[in-house]
Amino acid sequence: MAVEIAPSVLAADASRLGEECQAIAEAGAHRVHWDVMDGVFVPNLTFGPDVVAACRPLVDLHFEAHLMVVKPDELAPLYIEAGCDTVLIHAETCPHLHRSLAAIAEAGARCGVVLNPHTPASSISEVMPMIDEVLVMTVNPGFGGQRYIASVELKIAAVRQMIDDSGRSIDLEVDGGITAATAGTAVGAGANVLVAGSAVFGHRDGPAIAIKELSASV
Ligand code: DX5
Ligand code: ZN
Repeated sequence: MAVEIAPSVLAADASRLGEECQAIAEAGAHRVHWDVMDGVFVPNLTFGPDVVAACRPLVDLHFEAHLMVVKPDELAPLYIEAGCDTVLIHAETCPHLHRSLAAIAEAGARCGVVLNPHTPASSISEVMPMIDEVLVMTVNPGFGGQRYIASVELKIAAVRQMIDDSGRSIDLEVDGGITAATAGTAVGAGANVLVAGSAVFGHRDGPAIAIKELSASV
């Protein structure tokens, strides 16, 4: 299965976000991962929809919004409007997850569920028939540059089994601490999309080499 690379622009140079999106597009990235944080669900505050919209016309890359927010139902439409192709919402922030996902799909975007390290794979069994993606967090959300939580690999494998059993083509994305040293076991457990922030934007030889090394490591 082809593995996609989705650099997280949380680790990019915030003063040159548009250029950084163009740089990862030229470097062979498949997606731009927008880490949207409201300072409440996670203790950090990041990109509003206007920032995403400003970068949208600069590259043809798939835009995905990872909503780390307490009110995903309110914010999801704004990021779809801003040009996101996929909206990923946390199971932990959605008491009515089925309805929240349906609203994203009805608005014309791909929908995905995000699972924090403590949240079991079984929590999304009832929405497998309607989702396009599962994002399994391999760190606790809020910041880039954290250490990969290897114990999550058991959950990655469980989600992969659920996807196979569903008979649907659902992406399994992992997010947090993904580097050339950890990507191989994450893909081995069942991931097919890799979010990488510091491994791409912090690489001493630039994003093209970073993406090449990541792709070669799986
Ligand atoms: C954390 C974010 C991740 C993070 C990844 O809350 O969801 O996308 O930015 O950064 P690295 O790859 O540096 O761990
Ligand atoms: Zn993320």
